[in-house]
Amino acid sequence: MNENSILLKMQDISKSFPGVLANDHVTIECEKGHVLGLLGENGAGKTTLMNILYGLYQPDQGKIFVDGKQVVINSPSEAINHGIGMVHQHFKLVDTLSVIENVILGIPTNKAVLDFGPAKKKLEKLCKEYELFVDPEEIVWRLPVGKQQWVEILKALYRDCKVLVLDEPTAVLTPSESDQLCRAIRKITEQGRSVVFISHKLREVIEITDKVTVIRDGKVIGTVNTKEATQSILAEMMVGRPVTIERKARPIIKEHSAVLVMKNVNAFDDRGVQALKDFNLTVHAGEIVGVAGVDGNGQRELSECIAGLRKPSSGSITIQDKQVTNVIADPSFVGFIPEDRQKTGLVLDFTVAENLLIKDYKEKPYVKNGFLQYSEIKKHAEHMIKKYNIKSPSGDIKVKTLSGGNQQKVVIARELDAQPVLDVASHPTRGLDLGAVSNVHDILLNERNRGAAVLFISAELQEVIALSDRIIVLYSGQIMGELDGETADQFTIGQMMLGQTTEAKK
Ligand SMILES: Nc1ncnc2c1ncn2[C@@H]1O[C@H](COP(=O)(O)OP(=O)(O)OP(=O)(O)O)[C@@H](O)[C@H]1O
Ligand SMILES: [Mg+2]
Repeated sequence: MNENSILLKMQDISKSFPGVLANDHVTIECEKGHVLGLLGENGAGKTTLMNILYGLYQPDQGKIFVDGKQVVINSPSEAINHGIGMVHQHFKLVDTLSVIENVILGIPTNKAVLDFGPAKKKLEKLCKEYELFVDPEEIVWRLPVGKQQWVEILKALYRDCKVLVLDEPTAVLTPSESDQLCRAIRKITEQGRSVVFISHKLREVIEITDKVTVIRDGKVIGTVNTKEATQSILAEMMVGRPVTIERKARPIIKEHSAVLVMKNVNAFDDRGVQALKDFNLTVHAGEIVGVAGVDGNGQRELSECIAGLRKPSSGSITIQDKQVTNVIADPSFVGFIPEDRQKTGLVLDFTVAENLLIKDYKEKPYVKNGFLQYSEIKKHAEHMIKKYNIKSPSGDIKVKTLSGGNQQKVVIARELDAQPVLDVASHPTRGLDLGAVSNVHDILLNERNRGAAVLFISAELQEVIALSDRIIVLYSGQIMGELDGETADQFTIGQMMLGQTTEAKK
């Protein structure tokens, strides 16, 4: 390879945290105009490596070269000056500001009064160029996650980055949004920029990257030319064994009483737009009902209404005949895995042990005479860390220091361990590596087999089909169709997701 064509090189990087060697002599290279895929299990060290590149962490050793020149990056602003742009795994936008305010935030100016006019023009031009459309005036918290992702990317492009790092950008995207992103990435690389692309979705990695570097336990396992790779080669390099998502055999459950009953539920979203329309749904004990659909068609409102976090404007919701409309769900009754683990699922500044106990902290043996019993809390954490295979050196560290996928496991462990009668799992495998996805599927299937009613919301059709007994397709706040999980096919569901009915509709 011609050394001149290498735009980014990170050489022999090591970084340790207390108890963890996150990067162990890692070397990666990315050519101009190329996409480098970074693959690895949850906790392998991908985000840490990129945080070093972005100046958020200092490596214990190793060098960074941009365009052939060695650079020392002490802060994100220095990274930006060297042409590095980064879209973080967990977004860094300020929710209460508008799109354009977020985009220009932090750019030094010598004017006393901000003039948004030219900035808006530049942003609109970028939107057009990359076909990533967002309204500059919209407040960020009102945007669906997919659009928030566009804002993050546009923000990096606005700063004219040479190297764009995308840390699991497609975890929150629908299939059509992922395609849109792929097109944008192609445009970005055609201009001679480089992209580092982190994803657990092998199909996309194969489609979009030129080379892939696989990391396991902080070490580089190997780098391959994507042309010569297949999904199974990559999966095996990553996990050390072949992994696939397939439908597993399941016992028929005899006790099949109705657990969740929703009747004529209407609800509005945060913008005041009607999100659920006369919605009717029953989920029985011992079944997994999969909810397929393009994100933003009422999924969030559906799960929040059931969990009692959103007030329906009319209609009724019962769980085992108990009225729960407008009532915050009883934790022993409902296990709720929310779609945003960081905002709703966890208290980031609490320890892993505390997060695992948030629902039970008032219970014996964790509290005695009003005092928390830390030895019991610690024991509980150790048990859960082992049982759910959470990669954490102990229960005493802050949950925010875990890798994204391992944070998700903390939520799942806490929500499902009490064996609730109803599990509401909203995108529970988002951001999980292949092995962990398969573990979560096993956990949910076991929940069903023990007689729990499971509502499983996901944008990944393959896993909806693999896991569900029954599939409903949500479109514009209504059920577009219902299919049997055994016989459902991706094409029919895909049609329904776009609002088209087909013969398969019952
Ligand atoms: N600030 C920190 N303090 C302590 N440990 C940390 C910190 N940041 C990361 N780690 C640890 O370093 C290891 C690598 O984490 P990293 O976030 O880089 O993984 P990842 O490959 O991005 O995983 P995922 O696919 O789940 O996002 C993990 O064991 C994590 O707990
Ligand atoms: Mg990560």
